[in-house]
Amino acid sequence: MVWQVMQDNRRHSGQHTYTVPSPDSYPFQWFWDSCFHAIILRHFNPELAKQELRALAARQFKNGMIPHMIYWDKPPPETKFPKIQWGRRHASSLVQPPMLAAAVWAIYQTDGDKQFLREMLPVINRFHHYFLYYRDPYHHRLIGLINPDESGEDNSPRFDHALRLRAHQQIEKNYHHRLKLIELYRRERFVIKHHMDRFHWVRDVPINAIFVANLRYQSYIAALLGDSKITHAAQGLAGEVSAAMRRYMLQDGVMNSTVGLEYRPIKVKTWAMFAPLFGELHSQAEAESLVGRHLLNPKEFKAPYCVPTVAMDEPSFDAAGFWRGPVWIATNWFIFKGLLNYNHGTEAQMILKDSLKLISRSGLREQYNPLTGEGLGATNFTWGGLVLDMLADSQKLK
Ligand code: GLC
Repeated sequence: MVWQVMQDNRRHSGQHTYTVPSPDSYPFQWFWDSCFHAIILRHFNPELAKQELRALAARQFKNGMIPHMIYWDKPPPETKFPKIQWGRRHASSLVQPPMLAAAVWAIYQTDGDKQFLREMLPVINRFHHYFLYYRDPYHHRLIGLINPDESGEDNSPRFDHALRLRAHQQIEKNYHHRLKLIELYRRERFVIKHHMDRFHWVRDVPINAIFVANLRYQSYIAALLGDSKITHAAQGLAGEVSAAMRRYMLQDGVMNSTVGLEYRPIKVKTWAMFAPLFGELHSQAEAESLVGRHLLNPKEFKAPYCVPTVAMDEPSFDAAGFWRGPVWIATNWFIFKGLLNYNHGTEAQMILKDSLKLISRSGLREQYNPLTGEGLGATNFTWGGLVLDMLADSQKLK
């Protein structure tokens, strides 16, 4: 089933090949989706996985940024994806969580091709430099989002406060507010560095936790290639971002995203509280408590189908509300990997089991209702393929 969708969703443009997340709903290339695709494709054919990442690298901007959407041949139709919706004609002006180094490293784990590492390390170096230079203007070592879409969780309630929205809201209204934000940046020609503290100063937990993990992968890649300068720089930065996250975000054992220059905590319980496990930002004792108090709590995240993206006792929880409750397989994958970092094999298996149940019950859908298991949103959606990666890990556990 996964291989079929990965083949059906594959597209070519000139010498480039990439995969669309869903032919009807998402007919372009998306950044973090492509990183997930590479992680899935390596289990079938590492060459296809490399092509997926090469297509991203081919569209890297001079300043190192890789856009969150690449339209390739067809600029989007005005109706669904207005042409310059995200800032440019052939690509967007936004980013998504920096998963490139993780995807490159995963491919290397499969085929040991050092030449590919050599090809991708400069791309990763420039990409990470972009985040540090343009997204952290005061050098606090936390990267910022200019728009909720950059988290990959478009309408997550973590951004309600910054967008001045209430817990109960229409998805259209949320979208409208996000587009208004883009308009502000467009007027400033996307010179983000100088305006982010005015328009949308959010320091989000998952993107920073993912950045820490990816800085570590960058250091492993550089070490393998004998580049000691990059190895140490990336290791050092991973330490600095981790320390900043603990300093500005950690409260009572939970990391909260923050808003404003004074780092006010955004206390909305979402899956984001488990993302630091992926970046190994917690002590073992803190991890135990997160799992016991929150992940396995039947009032919060222990739903009939795990893991809801928003805690069930949050006022904003909506079991069919896009990023306001449904299970997404990629967030399950991050939590699964995070749990393995802390030897929580049993809970990791539970997440894998629920992910498999959802797919066999409802097919490869974009999201799933955590209470009923019903499939929601896009069809023939690629992310479900990440269960293969989880299965490969779980085999090693046995
Ligand atoms: C939605 C998701 C985003 C994803 C995109 C393409 O916008 O919120 O994370 O990258 O669809 O699948």
